[in-house]
Formats: sequence, structure tokens, C-alpha cells
Amino acid sequence: MEFINYEQEGFVGIITINRPKALNALNSEVLKELEATIDGINLETTRAIVLTGAGSKSFVAGADIAEMSTLTKAEGEAFGERGNRVFRKIETLPIPVIAAVNGFALGGGCEIAMSCDIRLCADTALFGQPEVGLGITPGFGGTQRLARLVPVGKAKEMIYGAINIKADEAYRIGLVNAVYPLEELLPAAKKLAAKIAKNAPIAVRACKEAINKGLDEKMDDAIVVEEKLFGSCFQTEDQVEGMKAFLEKRKVDGFKNR
Ligand code: CAA
Repeated sequence: MEFINYEQEGFVGIITINRPKALNALNSEVLKELEATIDGINLETTRAIVLTGAGSKSFVAGADIAEMSTLTKAEGEAFGERGNRVFRKIETLPIPVIAAVNGFALGGGCEIAMSCDIRLCADTALFGQPEVGLGITPGFGGTQRLARLVPVGKAKEMIYGAINIKADEAYRIGLVNAVYPLEELLPAAKKLAAKIAKNAPIAVRACKEAINKGLDEKMDDAIVVEEKLFGSCFQTEDQVEGMKAFLEKRKVDGFKNR
């Protein structure tokens, strides 16, 4: 692949968007490779993903403005559909995805970070949805996910005003979980991913599904989503061993994903 690097470190997969010429902006080719990478993740051997951008300046500087500049209405809609499909695959990937935001996260860059389960960022990161300054709306889910992740008035201020925010503000409003010096960001993201990967994989996946599906439901229905997933964990080898180990006052010797 030209624009996406994939590495495996133990149970953790690391996806790096690598298009330095355009600050890792997402054109059709990058989206295609990203989708193929996500589709190709081995869910038997991978328990968490870290998603980052190559270089020290940019995570993703948005969708590719040069490519978008001549699109018709129908082509614009199709481009949005394509990005949304890929980002929804990230959001609904059975295993957790951590965004390590190493710089600019603008437009499609902010949107891809918001499709991840957890965002960590460098103190140099910049977040925003500057699309209205280009004559368009956010197109890869920004109006929907930002308004769900931060107070809706803040999302509206950022989107209507094309106001970018720095790392400390992103932390203050809960858009990111933590801020690190750039050189500590990737190690921190990998460490968190490895911590997640140490837990019972079937249970972690069930938690992701329960949280994501439950958030779309009313509470009476949402707790049923959890009940079913809670039940599904019983009689797995990992549940039997996890509880046995606790009762025998010893540590589990590696969950098996069974
Ligand atoms: N699309 C295409 N090319 C881009 C790009 C983008 N989103 N962002 C940066 N680039 C390119 C620049 O055109 C430039 O290319 P050349 O060297 O060939 O001229 C190269 O990357 C380096 O960029 P700059 O020289 O501009 O770097 P800078 O440090 O001066 O500025 C920046 C950095 C503030 C991020 C600036 O590049 C910028 O404002 N980029 C655009 C950000 C943006 O508006 N993103 C939203 C896009 S719309 C979108 O994403 C819609 C959607 O929701 C689907």
C-alpha cells in the first residue's frame, strides 16, 4: 500500500496514515487503502488498534480539497458516502480503536478521530471543522459526532465559526482523554491499547457493542442490549477462567479470546 502502513505489535495493530505531501489529507486512494486495511484486520489475533498520522506535524489535515474542488452535487454526496462508510467501519469495528492525534486534526481529520473509541493527542494538536470556510458542511460525520461528543453549543460554535481548538481546549471539553508531549503520544496510545488487550477480548468487544448500540436506544431498551451481551460472556473459557482465578486468588495466565 502507498498511503497506509500497518504494523502488528503483539495483540495491537497500528494503522498509520502516510501521505506527507498533503499533511495526510484523505483522497479517494487513501480512503480505499484505509478501508482495505480495516477489512483486513485479523480479529482473532488483534485486540485493539491505534490509529495515527505519519510525521510530527499532522494527524490528518482533512479530506483532500484539490480532489473535492471540482465535484458535482452527486459526486460530492458520493464522496461523503464513501468517507462515512469507512469511518463507520472504524466506529463499529468489534475491537477498540484509539486515535493518537499527532498534530492537525481538521475536517476529515477531526472526523476520523471522532470515529475512534478514544482520542489521545499531542500538545501540538489542533482540532476543528473548518468546512464552512470552504463553502461546504463537514462531510464525514462531523456535524453528527462532534455534537454528540462535546456540548452541542460548543459543537455549533466550532462548526458555524470554523473555529479550531488547541489540545488544552480539546481536553477541557472532553474531546480528548489526555494530552502528551508529541514524543510520548504514540507510546502512551500503545500502552493503553496493550492494557485493553490484556483483558478478556470477548468481554471488551461486548462492552464496545453495548456502549455504542445502547447510546442509540432509550434506557429501557439500552439495558436490554447490555443484558444480552452480559449473558453472552458466560460459559466462555475466559469468563470461567477469569472468575476461577479471582476465587483462587491468582492472576489469569493470559486470556484466550475463547
Ligand atoms: N487537502 C489537500 N491538500 C492539503 C490539505 C487538504 N485538506 N491540507 C494541506 N494540504 C496540502 C497543502 O495544499 C500543501 O500542499 P503544497 O505543498 O503542494 O502546496 C501541503 O499540504 C502543506 O500544507 P500547507 O502549506 O498549507 O501547510 P501549513 O503548515 O502552512 O498549514 C494547515 C497547515 C493549517 C493544516 C493548512 O494546510 C490547511 O488549512 N489545510 C486545510 C485544512 C482544512 O480545511 N481541512 C478540511 C478539509 S474539508 C473536509 O475535510 C470535508 C469533510 O469533512 C469531508
